Amino acid sequence: MRLILLGPPGAGKGTQATQIAQEYDIPHISTGDMFRQAVKEQTEMGVKAQSYMDAGKLVPDEIVIGIVAERLNKSDCVQGFLLDGFPRTKAQAKALDEILAQLNSPLNRAINIEVPHEDLIARLTGRRVCKDCGSTYHVVFNNTDQEGRCDSCGGELFQRDDDKEHTAKERLAVYNKQTLPLINYYKEKGKLDNIDGTGSIEKVFKQIKNALGSTG
Ligand code: AP5
Ligand code: ZN
Repeated sequence: MRLILLGPPGAGKGTQATQIAQEYDIPHISTGDMFRQAVKEQTEMGVKAQSYMDAGKLVPDEIVIGIVAERLNKSDCVQGFLLDGFPRTKAQAKALDEILAQLNSPLNRAINIEVPHEDLIARLTGRRVCKDCGSTYHVVFNNTDQEGRCDSCGGELFQRDDDKEHTAKERLAVYNKQTLPLINYYKEKGKLDNIDGTGSIEKVFKQIKNALGSTG
């Protein structure tokens, strides 16, 4: 199964991606996670990406397209993949089409998680992430059972710098301007599944499974 996940910052892409990747046994490829790891390690790419991420802006297309092309050429993507956070611009979507044409592996579906704008700021500013394993929580909607610690590994939870209200708002504005048009791009190709992202995490996952049910 070759899938992409669309949706605004905070829609629940990462949360759902973990479950989808497990259910369909495909690698979860998150460009946001790849950049955060590169920033942590202060690699050359990480240093370049950091200023854009801190400002809530998109990392330039040529950097993103390069790392995704390299990742999709790895052997574990032969059986399929789930792209989370890519593509985010028309240029990235076109580049993805070309990469997949070269690999002779057309995309199956684009899953678009829809959440009203007013819910997104609350989801982003309340998000907490485990320092050790990257699990995602929310101070109200998906809290850990242990105060400030990860349920899976006991690691410490922290708030992403770009989840502070000012930067979160900028990310939403960037999404509306640069990424929203992609919904039509995939609709016109007949590959789009719109999913209501406002229910519980389990309810959203059920809808995604239903939408993918008939996909080979
Ligand atoms: P990235 O990491 O991709 O961030 P994003 O798209 O803004 O997505 P988020 O991780 O914020 O949200 P999500 O939809 O995954 O939500 P989550 O599941 O965590 O990108 C970060 C930065 O990297 C970008 O700003 C950019 O600079 C750069 N970048 C990355 N890719 C790029 C690209 N292709 N091109 C250029 N630059 C790129 O959920 C959010 C919260 O809500 C959590 O707390 C969760 O617990 C909670 N939640 C989830 N589901 C529910 C639910 N059903 N009900 C209630 N709460 C819920
Ligand atoms: Zn953890």
